[in-house]
Amino acid sequence: MNIILIGAPGAGKGTQARFLEEKYGMIQLSTGDMLRAAVKNEEPLGLEAKSIMAEGKLVPDALMVGLIKTRIAKPDCAKGFILDGFPRTVPQAEALDAMLKELGKKLDAVVEIKVDDAALVERVSGRFTCAKCGAGYHDTFKPLKQAGVCDSCGSAEFSRRNDDNAETMKSRLKAFNDQTAPILPYYKAKGLLKSVDGMADMQKVTAAIEEVLRV
Ligand code: AP5
Ligand code: MG
Repeated sequence: MNIILIGAPGAGKGTQARFLEEKYGMIQLSTGDMLRAAVKNEEPLGLEAKSIMAEGKLVPDALMVGLIKTRIAKPDCAKGFILDGFPRTVPQAEALDAMLKELGKKLDAVVEIKVDDAALVERVSGRFTCAKCGAGYHDTFKPLKQAGVCDSCGSAEFSRRNDDNAETMKSRLKAFNDQTAPILPYYKAKGLLKSVDGMADMQKVTAAIEEVLRV
């Protein structure tokens, strides 16, 4: 099954993609994670994207389309994929349709995770991630079981994103409302759009996604 998770910053795309990946073996393709890795490794893409991401703006479509085109053609995507953070503009959605057609693949569903703006700010403010395995946590909503130790891999190193602050969050939300929200009617017109209430707790959101996907 090939799906897209759409939601504002902090809506829970990464959290839900990881659950689905573990449970069903589909591959999570997070463009945000790919860009952060490129920044960390000082790759040309990372050098170009670094300041744009820090300002909470969108990286140019051509760069993002190129990145996903290469990734989605890899053999592991045959198991099914979960796009997390892509497409983020109508031109990206159109480019995705073209690349899937070329590869003989299709989309099964586009799931919108709906969360109120106030909750989004609270979620990104408390977020941290294991620096070794990438497992995601939250100071209040998903604390570590044992202080200072990752539940998944036992590492003691964690990181916080530099775009997770109230100021950058304003531009990220604006980018979502102005540039990403218009892809919702694009997928609705294709009969692919499903919406779930992302305000519920994490397990309930997973159950709601499973329900709309009927997996
Ligand atoms: P990206 O990394 O995609 O960031 P984002 O869209 O802003 O989304 P987040 O990762 O912040 O949120 P999420 O929905 O994954 O939430 P999470 O599950 O972590 O993109 C970063 C930047 O890269 C962009 O700003 C842009 O510059 C660039 N970029 C990336 N893709 C691009 C593209 N295609 N085109 C152009 N530019 C691109 O959850 C958040 C927190 O809440 C966690 O702590 C979690 O534990 C907690 N939480 C999750 N669910 C719940 C729940 N149900 N209840 C309570 N807490 C919850
Ligand atoms: Mg994410």
